[in-house]
Amino acid sequence: MYKYKVSILGTGFIGLCSAACFAEKDIMVLASTHNEKKAKMINEGKAPFYEADLQEMMDDIKVNKTELLQCLTYPVKAVLETDISMITQGTPMREDRSIDLGYIESTAKEIGEALKQKDKYHLVVVRSTVVPGTSRNLVGKTITEVSGKEPGKDFGLCMQPEFLAEGRSIEDTLRPDRIVIGGFDDKSGEMLKEFYEYFYGDHLENCPILRMNLESAELVKYGNNCLLSTKISYANEFANFAELVPNVDISQVMKGVGLDYRINKRFLRAGVGFGGSCFHKDVNAIKAWSKSKGYTSRLLEAVLGINDDQAIHIVDIAEELAGKLAGKKVSLLGLAFKPGTDDMREAASIRVVEELRKRGVTDIIGYDPKANETAEVELGDKIKYAATIDEVLQDSECALLVTEWDEFKDLKPADFKRHMKSPNLVDGRRLYNYDEFNSAISFRAMGQIDLN
Ligand code: UGA
Repeated sequence: MYKYKVSILGTGFIGLCSAACFAEKDIMVLASTHNEKKAKMINEGKAPFYEADLQEMMDDIKVNKTELLQCLTYPVKAVLETDISMITQGTPMREDRSIDLGYIESTAKEIGEALKQKDKYHLVVVRSTVVPGTSRNLVGKTITEVSGKEPGKDFGLCMQPEFLAEGRSIEDTLRPDRIVIGGFDDKSGEMLKEFYEYFYGDHLENCPILRMNLESAELVKYGNNCLLSTKISYANEFANFAELVPNVDISQVMKGVGLDYRINKRFLRAGVGFGGSCFHKDVNAIKAWSKSKGYTSRLLEAVLGINDDQAIHIVDIAEELAGKLAGKKVSLLGLAFKPGTDDMREAASIRVVEELRKRGVTDIIGYDPKANETAEVELGDKIKYAATIDEVLQDSECALLVTEWDEFKDLKPADFKRHMKSPNLVDGRRLYNYDEFNSAISFRAMGQIDLN
């Protein structure tokens, strides 16, 4: 009855957003997770995490297309009842910072169990971020070992990297700028291409589909995240150069650079550094992978080093402004790794708190419009948590702006003066008008210095 039946194995950002977008376009989706609570929520039409527009889409599916999106806790059944299976499991960072492929391997085993019982050709698509060789050597071989079936003959195998950013996952799924398809063979790639031609229709006029082999597609994803991270560390290196000269503004410098059509202005915002579940994880994973093959990456080592040092640098700036911070009350404006999310993974705030504590600061208070709860899981009692902006600033001797939430944008110098014991403010995201703040309170911004 439906042209396509797809199983989505893993219900994180990529999995669930894809599942919802596919169901909206009349593709029958069987999602699968081992987490019963999560499966129940999805089946009740409730998004198990916050992502812009996801809940609205799930509400619509629940009312109008409820049979098109179901979530099982038994992946073998999901694979058996569909024609295409997409692996959207997480690939977290291990203690030693290399990639953990445990979820990918166990999912490949489950697919193998299903294919053992199935005679029809089935397409398997790896959409998780995996180091080169994983789709062929781990996924493909595991499926063959468990099922006895051959890739290229009994089942197809593709790798299709994801470029979704948190907070934009639905928008990025519906309107990608390109689709990269790595195929084990031509038949596999062609089948996935046809699927996306059906799903995207006219949108493909502005969205090229690139075909390549599995390993090249795996490397495209790392190429992407490593270049974006490199742009940020490059902007931060120049922010540090800018601070060597009076009255240079890094925002203007990067605007001047970014208007070059060969470069573009995105990901050149300097500040306290990148965080999130992807950049650290992926840069470290490909670095560890290349090292295991005998090649040491000097560039990526520097990208991570520059990034993480920005957390030390903002504390240096704060101490230049407010004197030694030990014994003083310090406020953090924003804790999440970026605005619009409650995600704390690898957030710059964590590194800033570590640095403050190393310098003997014990009275730290933070406020985040969405991430106070997740921050508490991550930071525990290393800091206190305020419920409002007024509370976080109350009697503080130094405030650090760490995440550029909209609600911080509206603050004026008078707000800092009114609440703080001494209004020292360091802008770690270049949110405030430099001249306005610099003339009104004791102020510093990363990437600009006024030595007059
Ligand atoms: C990132 C990529 O942007 C996505 O394309 C990719 O698919 C995703 O990782 C992934 O691999 O799953 P995400 O981590 O959600 O997406 O967030 P970004 O919007 O890229 O921001 C990452 C970090 O960089 C944030 O901490 C942000 O504050 C920081 N950033 C970003 C800067 O410090 N400066 C900038 O100019 C831009």
